[in-house]
Amino acid sequence: MAQLFDFGLVGLGVMGRNFLLNVADHHFSAIGLDTDAQKVADLKDEGHSDDIEGTLDKVEFIKKLARPRKIMLLVPAGGPVDHVITDLLPLLDSGDLIIDGGNSHFEDTNRRFTSLKSKDIHFMGSGVSGGSEGARMGPSIMPGGDSKAYEIIKPIFEAVAAKVNNEPCVDFMGKGSAGNYVKMIHNGIEYADMQLIGESYHIMKLGLQQDNHSLKQTYDDWNQGVLQSFLVEITSQIFNKKDDLTSGDLLDQILDKAKQKGTGKWTSQNAMDLGVAIPTIDAAVSMRQISGMKDIRMKASEKYTEGSGEFTPEVSVEEVRDALYFAFIMSYAQGMDQLSRASKEYQYDLNLESIAKIWRGGCIIRARFLEDIRLAYKNDSSLESLLLSPVISEKVNSVVGATRKVIQYTVAKGIPTLALSNALNYFDAFKSAYLPLNLIQAQRDLFGSHTYERKDKPGIFHSDWN
Ligand code: 6PG
Repeated sequence: MAQLFDFGLVGLGVMGRNFLLNVADHHFSAIGLDTDAQKVADLKDEGHSDDIEGTLDKVEFIKKLARPRKIMLLVPAGGPVDHVITDLLPLLDSGDLIIDGGNSHFEDTNRRFTSLKSKDIHFMGSGVSGGSEGARMGPSIMPGGDSKAYEIIKPIFEAVAAKVNNEPCVDFMGKGSAGNYVKMIHNGIEYADMQLIGESYHIMKLGLQQDNHSLKQTYDDWNQGVLQSFLVEITSQIFNKKDDLTSGDLLDQILDKAKQKGTGKWTSQNAMDLGVAIPTIDAAVSMRQISGMKDIRMKASEKYTEGSGEFTPEVSVEEVRDALYFAFIMSYAQGMDQLSRASKEYQYDLNLESIAKIWRGGCIIRARFLEDIRLAYKNDSSLESLLLSPVISEKVNSVVGATRKVIQYTVAKGIPTLALSNALNYFDAFKSAYLPLNLIQAQRDLFGSHTYERKDKPGIFHSDWN
């Protein structure tokens, strides 16, 4: 009898091909399906083993898979996912498993999960992070759906995932769309961290007059300490790259307009729906939008040319580092808050310690600091906010002073720090026993009789303000 493959992958782009090769490296045979002959040929070029095959024929693909079939989709989110599912469905048997490994919106995953369950096909939405290199060398994997279906794919996922202290960066996230939801929050944090690093770059480039060579050194140094993370590491690497077309550095030739595929925006939209405050992530999404207004920004820069005024405090590179660390903490705290709220709202039953654990390796937001987050939730799984954990508050207290200095500096210099200053303001609001929103309640009651509560007795009150 012809060989039956352990694992099937649909979508042989770079991510898909690399994931499949990674599966085969771990002694599971794998077959790939794509509609593009070139991509199938590329897979055959790279995978010289009997355990790897590529095909353009969906019937052959399905026939050659061992049952229950384990089929992962790495195709663009949205229509293509539905298209592939509709295409394969008539060929599948009861008990087969489809895993969507793309950045699908969690509500799409809920819809697909329910529809496939009624046809007795298991469906999982699984976040996969780490880009094409992660897919090849070991990504962080965030599967959700039903826990029994996870058992079918668990040995393969545990084998291919990144490892930290020999522990695989994969775990069952929770019911329904939990996997895609956790990946969405991962990306929201990713947006914030990238924006914060960008602002630190701006401060040191414009304010501290560091050239690309010293910036490389600075981020390199930072990556040896508390800021050690994938994003800081690649930032240092970027300053080293020469431009092929000019004699300068590539970074200086890249237009300052950032694009997005939407996962950061989804995080902000959903936070509004849930009533969770994630202003640092929101600021990062807004900054991508402001970056896109290049023409208007250029006109405005000619109109508003005020200097930095008389008050120009000084800051050091170390203080900028501390401010970045402070703001990273705020960004993760906001993301974890959203996860905790969503877990209740959508009955995901998320385990925040386990999420911090699988984010320590393989994914884009992997960072040394995630071990502290893991510890915080290990010590207290019902933590109301990461910022209330003694593990974390001690660190916040050690860097908040430097952060205030850096923000004074950027305000005086006119260097925009939408995310960084916002992280500090979020913290100041979070730790304020009193906020002036009693005034908002009074205004609401005055103009619309919307009522208010009192400090001194229970109940709902309304006053005649005239
Ligand atoms: C990952 C990334 C990835 C994401 C890119 C680009 O975890 O590997 O999050 O899934 O698609 O980072 O996202 P934007 O185009 O929205 O910046």
